[in-house]
Amino acid sequence: MILDPNMASATDPCSFSSFSKCVTKHLNLTYHVDFDSHVIKAKVALTVEVLVDNFTSLTLDTKDLKVSKVTANGQAAKFTLGPKHSFMGTPLEITLPFDLSRGQHVIVEVTYETAPSASALQWLTPEQTAGKKHPYLFSQCQATHCRSMVPCQDTPAMKHTYYAQVSVPKELVAVMSAVRDGQEPDPQDSSRAIYRFRQPVPMPSYLIAIVVGALESREIGPRSRVWSEKEFVDKAAFEFSETETMLKTAEDLAGPYVWGQYDILVLPPSFPYGGMENPCLTFATPTLLAGDRSLSNVIAHEISHSWTGNLVTNKTWEHFWLNEGHTVYLERMIGRSMESEQFRQFKAMGGWKDLQESVNTFGANNPLTNLVPNMNEVDPDDAFSSVPYEKGFALLYHLEELMGGPEVFMGFVKSYIQMFAYSSVTTEEWKKYLFTYFKNKVDILNKVDWNAWMYTPGMPPVKPQYDTTMADACIALCKRWVKTKEGDLGNFSEVDMKTLSTHQLIEFLSLLLQEDPLPLSHVKRMQEVYRLNALNNAEIRFRWLRLCVKSKWEDAVPMALKMATEQGRMKFTRPLFKEVYNFDKYREEAVRVFIAHRAAMHPVTSNLVAKDLKVDTGKST
Ligand code: BES
Ligand code: ZN
Repeated sequence: MILDPNMASATDPCSFSSFSKCVTKHLNLTYHVDFDSHVIKAKVALTVEVLVDNFTSLTLDTKDLKVSKVTANGQAAKFTLGPKHSFMGTPLEITLPFDLSRGQHVIVEVTYETAPSASALQWLTPEQTAGKKHPYLFSQCQATHCRSMVPCQDTPAMKHTYYAQVSVPKELVAVMSAVRDGQEPDPQDSSRAIYRFRQPVPMPSYLIAIVVGALESREIGPRSRVWSEKEFVDKAAFEFSETETMLKTAEDLAGPYVWGQYDILVLPPSFPYGGMENPCLTFATPTLLAGDRSLSNVIAHEISHSWTGNLVTNKTWEHFWLNEGHTVYLERMIGRSMESEQFRQFKAMGGWKDLQESVNTFGANNPLTNLVPNMNEVDPDDAFSSVPYEKGFALLYHLEELMGGPEVFMGFVKSYIQMFAYSSVTTEEWKKYLFTYFKNKVDILNKVDWNAWMYTPGMPPVKPQYDTTMADACIALCKRWVKTKEGDLGNFSEVDMKTLSTHQLIEFLSLLLQEDPLPLSHVKRMQEVYRLNALNNAEIRFRWLRLCVKSKWEDAVPMALKMATEQGRMKFTRPLFKEVYNFDKYREEAVRVFIAHRAAMHPVTSNLVAKDLKVDTGKST
């Protein structure tokens, strides 16, 4: 189906709240975090601006919230909760005790409690932390989970500031995606402390984030600290020591950094993503710490979101590629500045291959492989893949080639950021601005097959050109392994590895994963000569274990399941479980291990792995 590009939509298919009649301007949160019951007792005051006359009611998104009271400008307001939708949650319809006209504001206050199963939250027991002494709580709101911790207009079309006061047990520390605004003993309870936060830059609801735990921090730059349990702070400070250099590089490319502070929080191993661009406080997986410094692009990526995503935001999740495609583009421009153009092209080529893998797993006719998919009745968590990242990047890289190279195209990206800063945009608005910016080159732009790029599934209509200097060695070694007969395995030796950088080793393994499974004799020989089992870098280990399981090496099965459960980054955990599941002899073992661990897993991860392994999700979806 082709979306009507001219249809100015005032709704978001992933939200019950409409943004045509009223918009949220500010949100004032009061949280009481209860680790005994795994519940946040909360109050939120939303400052809402009315856009139409005779305004008497509004709808907020909620998910598994227990709402006890609603007031409007201090007066009690009637409210009803509608039926529960599988992933969108429950609309909260509020009727105001008065009429409002266009331009007026109203403060709507909701008193509520979160559910222990809130999909934005993971409550960890002390045993699940590094310190083993204190419990831990973290949130992950993107894409549609904020509504399970705050009743709100949970759509990226809306931007608001926020203020928060959070009461926690006094031996714990709270941090949020905002500027820290002081702390004090809780006047109501001497065993607790209150932490305050303010976010003066308008941002979408999916960027609200909170962590409570036994946290410590260390300064790593003039505007940056790292936060984690004390066991990891030093390692984290080392791993992320290039943060300020990356921030300055990004500012040179994209304009001033407007969020004040840029801190990094290293989460416990179950954090489902590599990184999350929460404003003022990027969340990062601890799996980055097993690598060597500067090997990971995750921080360059999350820093880049400070412009593309957080300043300029996708209007709905159908336009998610605007967030991720531009961010990957910026991330690779940072790589170009700090490393080289060849390095950027090497990463770009690797990205094309990741896109190929996603298209293969979804199927080339699957509408979710559209750059701009229709998200009606689609759970963004189910739709998540490399497609918005790498098809998006490929389009921008293709346009860069057409328009005159990286400097010229970066001029457009910077101008796009300035033009749409503090707002939310659709693909058509982006495209219109592209044509305006390159008004002297519209004849070239008109030759682009826009419909194929944006609204057609499968691989893009054109494959860009990449410099293969850095990839050649990976491709050659991959070919050797694929072509070599069992009797000639003696030709391989540890010397093959010596000339490859870690980036190239990862690329070599990715290339092998795209091929038919290697014979068992080959992966056994590879372990003999390269000793890959001994490497702790998660990006290497995850690909290596997949390769072994694909070749039906039984010894690798327990290692793969161990990695799948000891950390919970979905990029690793889901393919590892799937690979074991596809090994017939161990299918039941994969299911058994998943069921044994699911209660301790992140709610989103356990839900998706359950679907991958065709285990009952316990949900009526
Ligand atoms: N914003 C995303 C993570 C995300 C996307 C969470 C959609 C929930 C829903 C983040 O910026 C991201 O892309 N992280 C990547 C980093 C990688 C591309 C360098 C990840 O987690 O692997
Ligand atoms: Zn991202």
